Amino acid sequence: MTVLVAYATHSGATRTLAETLAAALRAEGLEADLVDLEEHPDPDGHDAVVLGSGVRVESVEKSAAHWARRHAETLAGRPFAFFSCSGSAADPAKRETQKATDTFLADLPVTPVAVRNFPGWVLMDRIPLHERVLLKSMRTPTGDFRDLPAVEAWGREIAPLLRG
Ligand SMILES: Cc1cc2nc3c(=O)[nH]c(=O)nc-3n(C[C@H](O)[C@H](O)[C@H](O)COP(=O)(O)O)c2cc1C
Repeated sequence: MTVLVAYATHSGATRTLAETLAAALRAEGLEADLVDLEEHPDPDGHDAVVLGSGVRVESVEKSAAHWARRHAETLAGRPFAFFSCSGSAADPAKRETQKATDTFLADLPVTPVAVRNFPGWVLMDRIPLHERVLLKSMRTPTGDFRDLPAVEAWGREIAPLLRG
């Protein structure tokens, strides 16, 4: 069976999480196709789908929201999992509820088999100047907060759910 692992990223953190997840799913015996949403992947033809998105200004990436809505019928017909990648999930207290994730899923007519909010990175040298100003004004903590072993563990956890 094949799983589409599709992701939307601005500064690259979500890509690294998606790569880690795809490798973990392959280690569980699934065939995982890793595709940037910029390539407009077609979820049809895959038996299951995982979508990952970075978070900006308390929203998932617009491309992720548009893609999911456009393919909602297809996603509803197979196991679908979602993960976010954000700065705030670096705080364990904020991992359970992520406004961007909750708003996105509330608007989507698809019930995911699994949802997780992972910490990403906030690295100023990967962010355009005007956004650095915004982040500094919001006093956003900077650093690499990724927990790739947690992503691998989630891959092991959701593999049976994606098999359906
Ligand atoms: C302009 C901007 C706005 C952001 N807004 C939020 C936010 O509202 N909440 C949050 O938790 N993280 C926020 N972040 C941090 C990102 O979610 C974090 O850098 C994440 O790793 C981005 O994923 P990406 O590298 O795949 O784009 C913001 C980052 C930028 C550059």
